[in-house]
Amino acid sequence: MKRIAVYPGSFDPITKGHEDLIHRSLEFVDQLIVAVAVNVAKQPLFSLDKRVEVRSFEGLLAEFAKQVGAAVIIRGLRAVSDFEYEFQMALMNRNLAPKIETVFLVPAFDLTYLSSSLVREVARFGGDVSQLVDPTVQQALKRKFGK
Ligand code: PNS
Repeated sequence: MKRIAVYPGSFDPITKGHEDLIHRSLEFVDQLIVAVAVNVAKQPLFSLDKRVEVRSFEGLLAEFAKQVGAAVIIRGLRAVSDFEYEFQMALMNRNLAPKIETVFLVPAFDLTYLSSSLVREVARFGGDVSQLVDPTVQQALKRKFGK
């Protein structure tokens, strides 16, 4: 049976840390759906279709994961500070979709400190993000901030 996984997030923007987790996931899943959340609470920097060319979902991740037949939800764990939120979310998602397991992946060591919010901040002030994001994302950030 084909093992489908969903990798959800805001991806605002997608970083090399996200890319690293996508590659790691593909070692053990047959199909990976990168699921970009339409987050009503957050004001995204990039409009949805600019962030990453994959599927978007509205509403509950658990429902989306069920709809696409996912067996696994992938999330990255970078530091202890991620843990509490991720743990809560994993338990709630299990409550909503008992058959779907959340699997936590640890990023490459040199990408552990990386987050989309830091990338946004550095790019906003004209800092060099070339080591942190794909060149296409770097260009999009430059256009966004005019730097
Ligand atoms: O990249 P992020 O911002 O850490 O991703 C968080 C995300 C989008 C995975 C989370 O907010 C989410 O799943 N949102 C969808 C709504 C939902 O299912 N909420 C209940 C989570 S238990």
